[in-house]
Order: sequence, then C-alpha cells, then structure tokens
Amino acid sequence: MTDVVQVTFLPEQLVSEVSRGTTLFVAAHWVDLPIDSTCGGAGTCGRCRVRLSNPDFTIRAVDREWLTRVELSEGWRLACRAEVEEDVECWAPKPLRMPVSAIAGRGRAVKVEPAVKKLPIELEIERAGPRDVLEAQLRKALADAGLGSAVITPQVVQQARDLLAEFGGSITLTICGEHLLCVEAGDTSGRCFGLAIDLGTTTVVGSLVDLTTGEVLAERSHLNRQAVFGADVISRVAYTSGSETRRREIQNAVLETLNQLVIELSDMAGVAEGQVYQAMVVGNPTMLHLLLGVDAQPIARAPFVTTFDEEQDVAASDLGLAIHPQARVQTLPFIGAYAGADTVGGLHATDLLRSEQRRLFVDVGTNSEIALGSSEGVWACSAPAGPAFEGGRIRDGMMASAGAIYRVALGDPVELDVVYGDVPRGICGSGLIQAIAELGRVGLLEPSGRLRRPEEVPDHPLVSRLVEIDGMRAFRLSHDVVLTQVDIREVQAAKGAISTGIAVLLESAGTRIEDLDEVILAGSFGSAIDPASARSLGLVPGVELEKIQSVGNTALEGAKMALLSFRERQRMHGIPSRVRYVELSAMPDFNDRYLTELSFPLEEGP
Ligand code: FES
Repeated sequence: MTDVVQVTFLPEQLVSEVSRGTTLFVAAHWVDLPIDSTCGGAGTCGRCRVRLSNPDFTIRAVDREWLTRVELSEGWRLACRAEVEEDVECWAPKPLRMPVSAIAGRGRAVKVEPAVKKLPIELEIERAGPRDVLEAQLRKALADAGLGSAVITPQVVQQARDLLAEFGGSITLTICGEHLLCVEAGDTSGRCFGLAIDLGTTTVVGSLVDLTTGEVLAERSHLNRQAVFGADVISRVAYTSGSETRRREIQNAVLETLNQLVIELSDMAGVAEGQVYQAMVVGNPTMLHLLLGVDAQPIARAPFVTTFDEEQDVAASDLGLAIHPQARVQTLPFIGAYAGADTVGGLHATDLLRSEQRRLFVDVGTNSEIALGSSEGVWACSAPAGPAFEGGRIRDGMMASAGAIYRVALGDPVELDVVYGDVPRGICGSGLIQAIAELGRVGLLEPSGRLRRPEEVPDHPLVSRLVEIDGMRAFRLSHDVVLTQVDIREVQAAKGAISTGIAVLLESAGTRIEDLDEVILAGSFGSAIDPASARSLGLVPGVELEKIQSVGNTALEGAKMALLSFRERQRMHGIPSRVRYVELSAMPDFNDRYLTELSFPLEEGP
C-alpha cells in the first residue's frame, strides 16, 4: 500500500498528493488553495468547512460541535481535522476575503495570513455596565468574527473600560492565536507589525515586517552579545554550568542584543515598539534554550538531547523583549540537538522536502546546518564550524558592515570590494572565503593550508604582499587588513567540520556527488559567497558551478514565512518528523574523518 494519497479539490479539480494521514487543510495549501480559518488549523474556529464526496468520511467530535446533523450527513467536515487515508474528492468553498501575497523564502509567493489579527469594533457605551456585560460585548464581537476561542483576561476588560471612559466606544481588539492581546482606542487595524529574528551564535539578524501587507520595513544585524561568554555553543553552555545566575546573565546578554535591534528597527521603519505584536525567533537549539532561560546542559553531553523540541510561545513581557508587553514570542520546532528552528526555517524556505530534485543545503555559520535530500527523504546534521565565517577569531575579521572587504580578486592590481565602498577596515566571511581561494588560485597557498614564504616564490608579482605580522606569516590585502596563517587555519578547521558533515550525509543517503541536482549555500552572508571560491575551499562538493546557488539567510526567510502565514507555520510543524537527523558528536570516528577533510581542494588558474 503506497503512503501517498490524492486529494482532488473541486470545482477547480486541483490535485494534491500528500502522505497518508495528512489533513485536508494542509493538503489544500500544498496546491495553494486558501481554506478559510482564523485559528490556523487548531480546530477552534469552525471556518474550515469542506464537503467530501463520500458522506461516510470519519466524523470527529469537533465536527459535531460545529456542524449540524444534516451537514454531517451531506459530507461536510472540518478540513483541519479530516485526515485522509485514501484518495478523496471534496468541494472547498472560497474564503470571503482573499489574502494578499508577499514574496518570501526563495522567491515564493506567501499569502499574508498572520496569526495576529486586528478587529475594529464599536462598543455600546450605554450598555457597558458591569464587567461581565462589557466582557459579553467583547466576546460577541470576537465570536462574530470567528475568533470566539480567544481568551479574554480581566486586564483586557479593564483596558476596554478605561478607553471607553476616555475615548468612547470605537476600539480595536488585537488577537494572536488564542490570546486577546490588547484593546486600543480607535481603528488601528492599519498598524500591525511583527518581528522575524534569526538568533545566530555569532550574528543576530532581525526583520521588521508589516503584517497587513507582508512588506519588510527594515532589516538589521548585530553581533550576539553572548560572544563574551564563549565563541561557540559548547563554551556558552559550559559557562552556565550549574549556575542559575550565569544562565540569567547569558540570557540577559542576548536580550540586550535583541532589544537593541528592536530599537533600531523601529526607528528605521517609523514604527512604535508597542505596535509589534508577534516575534518569530529561529536559531539553533542551544541559542533558543539560552534565550528562554532553559538549562542547555543536556545538549552538550551524550546522549545530546534538548530539554524541549516543540514550538514555544511566551509573552514578550515575561521574556523581557521590548515589543508590546503582551506580544507573543514564538519559535519553530527542532530536528535534533544541534539542528533547530533555523534549520526548519531554512528547509522550508528552500522547499527542500517538497522538491523532487536531490539537493544539498549548507547553512554556513558558527553552527553550520547541513541537509541533503528531496521529497523522498531528507538527512540532516550540524557541523561545529566555529565563528570564523562570521569574522570571529580572525585577526581582522568583522561582520559584513561598512568597511568590510566582501570580495577579493588577486590580479594586477589587487581588487577589493568593500561594503559601502568605504576604506577597508576588516574582512567578512565572503571576503575571507574568496581571499583564501584566490591565494590558492595564484599559487601562494598550498592545499595543506600553508601560506608560502617570499623566498619560495621570489618572482611572484604579489610577493611584496607576503609579510610577517607578530611573528606570523601573512598576506597583506590592504594597508590595514591582513590575512594571517592562523586565520587560514581557523577557516580550514571550519571548512573541515562542514565537509565532514557533507561526507557523512552523502554516505547516509547513499548519494554520489554527481547525483546532486543543486547545492544551496545559505547563511547570513550566504548570497555574497562566491560559488567558485566555496568549491575551491571544499566548502561544497566538486559539482558543476551552475549547480551551486547562494541564497542568503534562509533561516530568517523561514521565520518571516511563519510570521506572515499561520499556514506556512503549520507546514513547518511537520518538518522534524520527516528528517533523519545524524548526530555528528556521537560518531566515534568523527575526528578521524575530520582530519581527512582538512585540506583545501584549491583550483589554480590564470
Ligand atoms: Fe479553524 Fe479548522 S477549525 S481551521
């Protein structure tokens, strides 16, 4: 018996092929058919009605709550509860309001249907009366809008009463999932914002999004202030070992980073922090444990497990994130101890699990996530690359901000591209990768990672740039920026971890390099990585250049998609169960394999 079943949606005759057990709600969205809903498939709004051709289709308790006996006998069911076990045909009514679309992920059109909703209403002032009467009015307004499952707290009722006294009965209710967050005076439905955050070990990137249009209003990155407690996840976990105070200290450091981002993004976009009602945070499991103040020790020692792996949802004020105090701060689920919400976001944004093509996904960062597969199956692992690619532990390393060299061509003359065209102040990840590849191309670097001495290449046109700095061999890129032998060793170690991860996944999946249809290079600086340089360093396998695509920060794109659409988020929910995770830290021969992956393939050329 095949595991794939067909759902045919009428009247358009759209056919969705899904795994047995998938709900009609999810099946509809794989063929871009919007089914009405305000609860995001939680079974609490009753709006996702569809009519099955087979009236004997399983009836669930929740169907009986929302549908009459006659409707049930006619084949009506709630799409979000109806799991398909065999080929079915059903009729799906069009929602009254078609959502607008925004481009997110890898050029995907995402229908803007955020979990946050604003509902402008008119309260009857003269009938406000005691608390329960006012609450009844709020409840009725929510129920009329299909949001009857929202929880009304006494604080919100009090807010409504205060506004009534001061501004009259015109108010706006803001709801996120089942939380009625707040009541605002007047009609504020045009002002509704969300925050997508990629919480990296070294770099944190935030994106402020208009939840009514899907437009990205501002984007910014910062170094994670936790870096002072250790460059990688293992050292940060070690720092918190057995100490509640240190756990709080490291949590505060990342919150300071995030709150600084919030201030800057709000300024850039002209948005009040109090109008940001939802934050979607992705990151590796350690980063999200440390953000939420949860003990991350079990991640760092065998058998390498997380304390939680499901989506989390907390109030901003409980966490200390300076957006609307009642805003919901949410995360995506994890795949394994070192492949977290960022990997889920990245895999979703690149459609890795939906495509028939066999693709390799490499998200380059301090904790580099790697995945390999297609719709037939996906394997994933995480490689501890260290912070080199984000400028960490590199003598003149820096983020890709003003003054960073991001492209290098070692010709005559040496050409350097610098962010904002400024005077070079340092070098960022993409520049670093290209500089090393270029040193190999012009014959100044050996595959072993050894930088040649001037006396070995006396006639080389760039020999005057081979210098000694603090007793170390180095190559001078500009007046103030050099690349030392130690920097090259750092990159070599990072590259070694990533190529070991790739080799392990190719082996696990039984895939040969020549069978790969595409190699996706992701990361906060991913779109700036030169594919030829990445291949020359061995950061990606030796496939044809046109198969290598640099796609930028897919983790952040995944977070944006989850923020913009509760349906996209629901799809991401199912990703971990479809990925086979390989824990590299648990492999007894990891170190031996790593040592064999250290050399650079290097491509010499004119
Ligand atoms: Fe709300 Fe099904 S009940 S989507």
